[in-house]
Amino acid sequence: MVLGESKRVEEMNYFELIAWLGIGSSHPGGFPATKQNLEAMQVKPEEYVLDAGCGSGLTACHLAKTIGCKIMGIDISSQMVEKACLRAEKEGVSHLVEFRVADAYNLPFAANHFDLVVAESITVFLDKVKLYQEFYRVLKPEGRVADLEMALLRELPVNLRRQMEACFGSGTNPLPFEEWLNALTLAGFQDVDIKNPQPLRSNGNVIMNELKKDWLLVIDLTDKVRKQPGLLARLQKNAGFMKRNQGYFGFGLVYGRKPTPVPEKLDFKGWVRKVLFRK
Ligand SMILES: C[S@@+](CC[C@H](N)C(=O)[O-])C[C@H]1O[C@@H](n2cnc3c(N)ncnc32)[C@H](O)[C@@H]1O
Repeated sequence: MVLGESKRVEEMNYFELIAWLGIGSSHPGGFPATKQNLEAMQVKPEEYVLDAGCGSGLTACHLAKTIGCKIMGIDISSQMVEKACLRAEKEGVSHLVEFRVADAYNLPFAANHFDLVVAESITVFLDKVKLYQEFYRVLKPEGRVADLEMALLRELPVNLRRQMEACFGSGTNPLPFEEWLNALTLAGFQDVDIKNPQPLRSNGNVIMNELKKDWLLVIDLTDKVRKQPGLLARLQKNAGFMKRNQGYFGFGLVYGRKPTPVPEKLDFKGWVRKVLFRK
């Protein structure tokens, strides 16, 4: 069964909704924010990049096309991974990009594997420190994490938090910028920084913005609304929430570096043991 074909839109969670709609850049600031951040990340062609929660693979394929580096994209949704593989084929970058279904909390990769972990609008829905610890594990020493996420610019009243969760799911939890940095630090990262912080402004609604840009999505949407009239109300609810409350939200690139391991300090006995007996 293809997800969304028999499931009612009212029963879909936010991830299922965007996968079904085929939204390419479902993060704050959309694709322009991705491009702005790629400049700040300074990705090199020889680097190996993980895109965690890659969705339909737009960012991963763009990186492959523009930088020529190798990328592994993972997503928990098989529907997203299917779309990402199709995109890579269509864009002629299948030799550089690989997509797999995997859980970002438990990545199927050895430790010290990647030079850079990119994430866009996945951590906001999950346990931040736990996820960052897993990114830390798979990064090589000196490897970077670059996570484009929504942030809270001022405290969100309880009633609005409830409305936000009703739109995007119960775990949705954007943090103030300082708390994003704390989460990275708690996971072990150094040189933590928010790059390109900015308010949401009118680009707040990721679904509506993407739909406006892509006529194919609009045509497809008309067909979907005909089959599932509840879709319009669902989209209006999300768009209305973001429009009314965009002043609370901003976004930025949560950025950090895995430190180089400190060489162990040995006393004389330890040194002799290490040199003579290789212990
Ligand atoms: C809001 S979308 C963002 C997708 C993409 N990064 C983008 O910016 O368009 C969040 C994505 O995270 C994926 N996701 C959620 N929980 C996950 C997990 N535990 N492991 C891997 N992917 C997950 C969802 O399936 C969805 O594709």
